Amino acid sequence: MKTGANYIGGKWQVAVKNRSFENHDPATGQLLSVYPETRRPELEQAIEAAEAAFKTWRLVPVARRGEILLKAMRLLETRKEETARAMTREMGKILTETRGDVQEAIDTAFYYAGEGRRFFGQTTTSELADKFAMSVRMPVGVCALVTPWNFPMAIPSWKIFPALLCGNSVILKPSSFTPDSAANLVQALEEAGVPPGVVNLVYGGGETVGKWLMEDPRVSLVSFTGSSAVGAKVGALCGKTFKKCGLEMGGKNAEIVMDDADLELAMEGALWGAFGTTGQRCTATSRLIVHEKVFKKFTSELVDRARALRVGYGLDPDTQMGPLISQAQRERVHRYVEIGLRKDKARLLTGGKALTQGALAQGSFYAPTLFEGTAEMTIAREEIFGPVAVLIKVKSFEEAMAVLNNSDYGLSGSIYTRDVQRAMRAIRDMQTGITYINAPTIGAEVHLPFGGVKHTGNGHREAGTAALEIFSEWKAVYIDYSGKLQKAQIDTHSTATPLADAPKPQWRKGG
Ligand code: UN1
Repeated sequence: MKTGANYIGGKWQVAVKNRSFENHDPATGQLLSVYPETRRPELEQAIEAAEAAFKTWRLVPVARRGEILLKAMRLLETRKEETARAMTREMGKILTETRGDVQEAIDTAFYYAGEGRRFFGQTTTSELADKFAMSVRMPVGVCALVTPWNFPMAIPSWKIFPALLCGNSVILKPSSFTPDSAANLVQALEEAGVPPGVVNLVYGGGETVGKWLMEDPRVSLVSFTGSSAVGAKVGALCGKTFKKCGLEMGGKNAEIVMDDADLELAMEGALWGAFGTTGQRCTATSRLIVHEKVFKKFTSELVDRARALRVGYGLDPDTQMGPLISQAQRERVHRYVEIGLRKDKARLLTGGKALTQGALAQGSFYAPTLFEGTAEMTIAREEIFGPVAVLIKVKSFEEAMAVLNNSDYGLSGSIYTRDVQRAMRAIRDMQTGITYINAPTIGAEVHLPFGGVKHTGNGHREAGTAALEIFSEWKAVYIDYSGKLQKAQIDTHSTATPLADAPKPQWRKGG
């Protein structure tokens, strides 16, 4: 068993006695590590360290900051396998997926390392003579990054790397379910040469450490990924002290299967989208909107394949779906299944129960679950965050789109069709931040903006150049080399300007 530590001001600090929490394998219940439950005085140290480090880090050339990210990337590459294994142990998803998670962090580091040699602003003209204008990005200050357990390395990397590139210092508060993965990421940054205090890592609960960070006036920015219910509280807290605040929240993502779709492809997409990461992705496919002409065929085949999925330990190469993150999450998923059966009166097609037999007895496993239902049902409206999807039958493309958009959320949407007109209309009309054509609702790449509309977000995007918008502030710069006072908007339209003095066109003469 490992004893974990906070990382504050460049030092690893283990827990003070009786102030720790345990990290368990959700597949076996095995105790993996013990981590500190951060208290106020330690958080105070972290904030002070971040504030102090910001003063010098902001002056390091952006290209140099990018080079440090590149070094971190190389370290993560050499450790990919062991890091992925540690991740599967602490949060359950299968090894091929945790390798993907680490790869997403590697890709993100590579991307922002390159941004260190771009980091473009605008150069433009002035409306006044002998005056130059441009815009440059400024860092924001101390950033609090609050991250979930479902992508324990990818999501922190989406926040830390652009934040650092922009010249901010950060305090990462990862989920208590995935402390090892957060430590592995921060370790790579330390070894890559990030100076002490620039990256700080503190463990603890959202109601304590998370809230303290959001209330603290020295923290200038909060970037949060989690549920919409918690995100609403985060946004309200940040509003009180005028913090910049990026919220990345829930989804109720749908895959549309049209009558002209490649059904095999749509089926594979549905299985991967609904049951990948045991349905615990904000981009997971939790609604399948299927045209009535293919509904029966698609549904019966999908049910057979969902039943055949091998659920088990994520490190076992034969496993296709791992456990849920915790027993509490399994109970929550099951409560939704009960709502589906009793309140919604949806038709359960397969699953709907915990898996507790044999080797699965110690873990929080749940059967891949499919319902047939309608768009208005609770199970088709609320985010379940588990291996549960609802099939909804529709008569037309228009109805399919209406059902897809009939949601409080707007993260990801997908359509399977061979009709280019439908595909283009779907791109235009889907009320989502991410739209896929002939691909599942999961699988976003790091160089494009990630995020959603409606209750999914608050207008910001992660990844790509979009993330620079949250982690930096624009500064407009005007350089006047005329040697005299020039008044914008006023001098430009006084009679003295060349424009007003210009001779009138010939054709107006005498006219
Ligand atoms: C999430 O769903 O919580 O697009 C993040 C994807 C991954 C990231 C998902 N690249 O599914």
